[in-house]
This record gives sequence, C-alpha cells and structure tokens, in this order.
Amino acid sequence: MASSTALICDTEAWKDLKGHVEDIKKTHLRDLMSDANRCQSMMMEFDGLLLDYSRQRATEETMDKLLNLAKAAQLTEKISRMFNGDHINSTENRSVLHAALRAPKDAVIKADGKNMVPEVWNVLDKIKEFSEKIRSGSWVGATGKPLKDVVAVGIGGSFLGPLFVHTAIQTDPEALESAKGRQLRFLANIDPVDVARNINGLNPETTLVVVVSKTFTTAETMLNARTLREWITTALGASAVAKHMVAVSTNLALVEKFGIDPNNAFAFWDWVGGRYSVCSAVGVLPLSLQYGFSVVEKFLKGASSIDQHFQSTPFEKNIPVLLGLLSVWNVSFLGYPARAILPYSQALEKFAPHIQQVSMESNGKGVSIDGLPLPYETGEIDFGEPGTNGQHSFYQLIHQGRVIPCDFIGIVKSQQPVYLKGEVVSNHDELMSNFFAQPDALAYGKTPEQLQKENVSENLIPHKTFSGNRPSLSLLLPELTAYSVGQLLAIYEHRVAVQGFVWGINSFDQWGVELGKVLATQVRKQLHSSRTQGTALEGFNYSTTTLLKRYLETSSEPQI
Ligand code: F6P
Repeated sequence: MASSTALICDTEAWKDLKGHVEDIKKTHLRDLMSDANRCQSMMMEFDGLLLDYSRQRATEETMDKLLNLAKAAQLTEKISRMFNGDHINSTENRSVLHAALRAPKDAVIKADGKNMVPEVWNVLDKIKEFSEKIRSGSWVGATGKPLKDVVAVGIGGSFLGPLFVHTAIQTDPEALESAKGRQLRFLANIDPVDVARNINGLNPETTLVVVVSKTFTTAETMLNARTLREWITTALGASAVAKHMVAVSTNLALVEKFGIDPNNAFAFWDWVGGRYSVCSAVGVLPLSLQYGFSVVEKFLKGASSIDQHFQSTPFEKNIPVLLGLLSVWNVSFLGYPARAILPYSQALEKFAPHIQQVSMESNGKGVSIDGLPLPYETGEIDFGEPGTNGQHSFYQLIHQGRVIPCDFIGIVKSQQPVYLKGEVVSNHDELMSNFFAQPDALAYGKTPEQLQKENVSENLIPHKTFSGNRPSLSLLLPELTAYSVGQLLAIYEHRVAVQGFVWGINSFDQWGVELGKVLATQVRKQLHSSRTQGTALEGFNYSTTTLLKRYLETSSEPQI
C-alpha cells in the first residue's frame, strides 16, 4: 500500500502493470473478442445502463491488476474521504461535495461537521418557488410583461454543464412540452460577438438575465453582466435591474455590490468546484426556468443514483471505478494520450465540451497532491463530436492513424423518432447501425489477406489495410431523459475523480488557469493607458510588443 506521500508508480501494483503491458502487446482485439467468457465478464448493467468494455486492450488478468492498483492507491479510503467531507482539495483547503447537491432530502452529508443537505434543499426550494413565479407569469418585468426568455451569463463551469444538460434534454418530449414559448440562451465569451448573438431577437422587457459566477470576479462574466445590465437599463431604466437580473454565486456580498437584490441571489458553497457545479443553482436555476423544477429534479435523481452506486458497489462492478481504472491503463500504461467522446446522439453534442473541462481542468496536473513532480503523465486530451458527424471528420485518424481510445455512447430509444415509409430502417436505426459498427471496425480492422481475397489491387492494399486493435468502450442508455442525463454526468464526474485518486493528484484545484489571467491584467492596463494617454508599450517581450503595436495602430476599437 502506498504511504500518503509515496508516488503510485513506486508501488508493486504499478510495476506489475508495467510488466503486464508486454503480455498485452502480444494480443489483438480480434482474438480477445472471440473469448465469450471474457466479453461477458466485461459487461456491467446498472439502473438501465449497459456498459461494455470488452473492446479495451485488457484481459481478466489486467482487470485484476488494475483492482490491485486501486487498492495500492487507497481508492476506497479516498472515495470515503470525499463523501465524508474531508478537505481532500488540500491546496484550497476545501471539501469536495458535489454529490450533496443531488442527495435526497433525508440524507446526511457533512462539511466541517455540519449537515449540508438541508441547506442544499433550502436553495432548491427557493429555485422551485422562483422559477414557478417566472414561468407562471406572476413575476413580471418592469413594464408588466411576463419574462419568457432567459440569458444565463457565465463561463467555464458556470456555463458548460448547464449548456450540456439544456442541449441534451431540449428535444425530450416532456422537456420540450414544458419549455413551450420559452427560450434559454447562454452568454459565455467576452467576445462582443457573443453578446450580439445572444441578445439578437430578444426584448429586454421580456428577458431575465441570470448572472452565474462562483466567485463573482471572473473578468469575462462580470463585463458581460455589466453589458447586459446596460442593455436592460438603457431600455427600461435603472430600477429594472431588480426585476430583470438575478444571480447565482458563492459570493453574495459581491452580488449585492453589483446591484442585484440579495433576495434574488441563489447561493452555493465553496465545496462545489466550478466544473462540478451543474447540479447546484448554477445549472438548476436556468434549467428550472426553462423546463420547470420537476424536470430538473429528475436530472438530480439520475445523478444521485450513480452517486449511490459509486459509493456502495464493489469495484469490480462499479461503473465509474472501472472506467477510471481503464483510463489510467490507457494513459499511463498503454501510452495513449487522448480520448474521443463519441455520443451517437445529436442531443449530446455539448457533452464532450463539458467533459473537456471536467476532465482536463481536473487531471491535467504536473505534481502529486503532496507537491512532488510526477514522473508519469496524468489526464488525457479529450475531444469529441456526435456520431455520425465525427465519422465524416476525424475518424480517418482514429482508424488508420493514431490510436485514440473511444467512448461510444448510444441511446436505445430516440427522443424524436422518424420512420419513412419504404426506407429500410428508421432514422434512429440508421444512426445506431453506425454506433454498433464502428467499435468492431476499430477492434478488428481489415487485413491484407482479406483485401487480397476481395481482389483489391496490390498497390491499394497498404492504403486499405486497417490494423485494428484499437480500443473503445460502449455505453448504452435506454433513452435520453433528464434522469439518464444526470446518470451520464455523474458517471464521468466520478470517473475523473477515480483517475485523479489513482494518479495521486488533486483533481479539484485549477492553479494552471491563473497565470494567463494575471498576464491579461498587465495587457489590459497597457491597452487602457496607450489608448487614453498614448503611453508607449513597456514591459513586454519583442514578440508581444510587435503584436500589440500592430493591434493598437490598426485597430478600430473606440477610443475611451
Ligand atoms: O478559469 C477557470 C475557472 O476558474 C473555472 O474553474 C470556472 O469554472 C470558471 O473559471 C468560472 O468561474 P466563476 O464561476 O467563478 O465565474
């Protein structure tokens, strides 16, 4: 067992896996897939979900060794410490309790000795009441009109998760019905083009702006919030802010300072990391305004179901644990630096962008939780697109170029089925034909011998050969509802935590985003003084000076 300051790579379990890589290199998925017992042992079912990881480059022996690694990493203890509210985010001295955000009312989850579940439900009840007022029209804007459109202003974790959930459920029949006549938009980028796009076609009289920021100091969000405040006050007068702007934050003092009535602020807590905040008011408020609280509650229940599974299921049947261990295997042992997230569902088009933040901001670290430089890489490069679009874009590289482990996510029942008379299959079956075919194409490939038998001309054989042996996993959801979207979210959140726990890093801080922000402050000051007083550029290197000079000399930005 690793002592708390030792690195996981020094344990016997890690070294054993390193040695085992040589055994795996001698295998091909073509052969591994012919062992039905092995494949059967690599299928897991839970609460309607089916996970099949038989196309991973792993044997039952690999799985045993990975479970030993989990033991060496003290995974059980680390998961308990997380749910017990210990300050496992040690560099920020905070608990990590996003699971408390979706816990049932009678659960007890403590942070610093205090049960947080009643506080969580106070905010949820407040959201329920407020969103019902807005949706029913009993809360009206400054000119007496109901507020039917919402613009949520926020970035990073205060944007990507809510956008993912919104996009995933907006075509679900129940959600669609409950959102009739309403719009939800997200303003994230400080690029003024994003403002223009988001207010295009909206009337301030019927719009509610929700400013979402954990810190209420994020430069982009605050400038965008001031921009929309201006848009509202110019049209409706300064007093309209009270009716047209609300906030979600942990920093209620700054919310008030901004001019938003604290009664119209929805709190969350420092033990919720930004990228883990979609189940707090960050996601629940905008989504409840659009779909009603009862739909959003189903999303919370789906996530909670996975929390309980994660906490209580033995590791060999525990979906987030198995997925986390397999990711460690792919990154640290097989040396695959990337992962593709490939939902065969247009509704999940924003899933990969959300997981990019959850995974890469959490696990892209260079030192252990104790500050020791890591002699191994952590985190993976995440990217993805819905199928089949991705097939017509980057799959060439995945099939014949680099090896990228793929997550295929499929849905049994379409949210919007279409079947045209006379067609061979329904539109959803057509989509899913690809979902089932791609993993086998990657695993089996196509040999020169097969091509010869098909009389392919000799000069084309190398070009048409597929090496195969490319790992993937398949996750099949019965349908895409608010509930299953919650399940999917929690699976990936916990998977990322498992990876971080095994790698021995702090998956819950994000110091790597700070340096760029500090340098931008220096540039901002320079732009201001150059534009207002003509101050010469100072303190930048040759490259930045040249670029800034060109920008200042040729830009048409209004002089302030
Ligand atoms: O820049 C990264 C980050 O700090 C993320 O971790 C966070 O989700 C995002 O900025 C937004 O932060 P806030 O919610 O405080 O505005």
